[in-house]
Amino acid sequence: MQSDVEKVNRELGGRLPKHVGIIMDGNGRWATRRGLPRALGHRAGTERLRGIIRVSSDLGIQALSLYAFSTENWKRPKNEVDALFGLFMEYFTNEVEALHANRVRIRMLGDMEALPGNVRAAVRAAEKKTAKNDGLRLNVALNYGARAEAVRAVRAIAQEAVMGALIPESIDEAALMAHLDTGGLPELDLLIRTGGEQRLSNFLLLQAAYAELVFVDALWPDFSDALYLSTLRDYAQRNRRFGGLKPDGEE
Ligand code: IPE
Ligand code: IPE
Ligand code: MG
Repeated sequence: MQSDVEKVNRELGGRLPKHVGIIMDGNGRWATRRGLPRALGHRAGTERLRGIIRVSSDLGIQALSLYAFSTENWKRPKNEVDALFGLFMEYFTNEVEALHANRVRIRMLGDMEALPGNVRAAVRAAEKKTAKNDGLRLNVALNYGARAEAVRAVRAIAQEAVMGALIPESIDEAALMAHLDTGGLPELDLLIRTGGEQRLSNFLLLQAAYAELVFVDALWPDFSDALYLSTLRDYAQRNRRFGGLKPDGEE
């Protein structure tokens, strides 16, 4: 796999995305198809993280944003939610040391205040420990929803206005984007969803304004490093126009 990463690096060079988002969907179906409880699908899904993070980091992708738990996922049965939070605890307890050694910088997207205390403490500790790292920026969206994020941003801006720190006329697109949970990160270039569904499910709606979308049929636990590399090749072929026109001579 290492040699494949080198090959893709040589091949794609400057056409790699700076910021990749992934909606990691399909864990439940992966388990159900094997006659296993859904929680085991989530565990298998967690085991894919190491490879995808490693490939992203080795390729020099600047930021990777992973959708781990949405604001709507609280609707699931309590035993599934509990199993997911158990896995998050395990992940942030066991993996942070290795991520830190690889200079990965962790940041949470979403509302951490509503999380169980132990999970909140674990994710805050992971952020703090890795805050000064200069490698891949790994963003984990936990209790994240784009609409809730927009509400937090609007509240923060309104608060600054009330305090007299800004006037409404000075609020521009850059100020709005800076107040989102992803403030300061590079533009989202590529958004991948595994599991075959073709929807965004409240993930990074504003950030995805000009992202390239790739929908992959593979269920998340089956999303191999090789499939990820082929998705990146697919992205590199895309013709991004941002509302403008292509360079002369191109269609
Ligand atoms: C995605 O897998 C993981 C989370 C939403 C936490 P799902 O659990 O949604 O898997 P499917 O879509 O039911 O197969
Ligand atoms: C999106 O998947 C959320 C995550 C992957 C964390 P869902 O399975 O919750 O999305 P829907 O319900 O199919 O839209
Ligand atoms: Mg799903």
